[in-house]
Amino acid sequence: MAGGYDDRDGKIWLDGQLVEWREANVHILTHALHYASSVFEGERCYGGTIFKSEAHSQRLRTSAELLDFEIPYSVEEIEAAKYAVLEANGWKDAYVRALAWRGAGPDMGVASQRNPVRMAVAAWEWGSYYGDAKMKGAKLDIAKWKRPSPETAPSQAKAAGLYMICTMSKHAAEAKGCSDALMFDYRGYVAEATGANMFFVKDGEVHTPLADCFLNGITRQTVIAMLKDKGLTVHERHIMPEELEGFEQCWLTGTAAEVTPVGQIGDYNFEVGALTRDVAESYEKLVRA
Ligand SMILES: Cc1ncc(COP(=O)(O)O)c(C=O)c1O
Repeated sequence: MAGGYDDRDGKIWLDGQLVEWREANVHILTHALHYASSVFEGERCYGGTIFKSEAHSQRLRTSAELLDFEIPYSVEEIEAAKYAVLEANGWKDAYVRALAWRGAGPDMGVASQRNPVRMAVAAWEWGSYYGDAKMKGAKLDIAKWKRPSPETAPSQAKAAGLYMICTMSKHAAEAKGCSDALMFDYRGYVAEATGANMFFVKDGEVHTPLADCFLNGITRQTVIAMLKDKGLTVHERHIMPEELEGFEQCWLTGTAAEVTPVGQIGDYNFEVGALTRDVAESYEKLVRA
């Protein structure tokens, strides 16, 4: 049985080198720890190949640029780091976490021009993100927190600071026996869950919120392309909360979540229908193709 995430055997890539797992540490005066100057990726490796690996490495660099810092490694170097970690730990099926942040240095105020940008890659074996929801359908709460306007936060960055409201929403959801929460956006439209995008089905057509103030997930984009290939109509649009009542099926997409059916959001129920199962199965095949 593995210990806490800071207390395991294995190797982590830190600033260009593989180090012992328990020695992959940072100083308490790390800028990111105080001011959320940190970006990250969540990826899954299937049978030795990281799905959409380069897209994730590129997004990590783009997220940093959106937060006004540059990662001192190219996409190719990030790719090599990820595979070095998998090889060092002997894993072919694993979750991969790459992250970059402003470290400790001469600056300890809000500005951090002089502190070094640091990067790490860790990986671990991680099964189903929503437990048995893949079969039964996940139960979602409705969060009180709203996804912010792109004028308020860099919403296309996968940045640590954007997860503050996600953690609080997920804790509130879990206290009610739910496995996640649906978040609305600053305008009141249906947005996404705390770590996954949302899809709905009505009359054989698919509807998904327009990703104009939250992460346009790599899985979301993959699933939209897959649905279109199957000849299905996909509407990317603003969705009002009142519309939840009329949707028949619902699923979540994300690297960790993969395609997870949703059975309930607040008082609204959804069937784990044929299309949802088909999309989940097609995605499973695709990531291992
Ligand atoms: C807030 C949020 N939205 C959406 C997603 C889905 O993104 P992706 O499919 O790129 O993993 C994630 C997961 O990374 C997430 O954390």
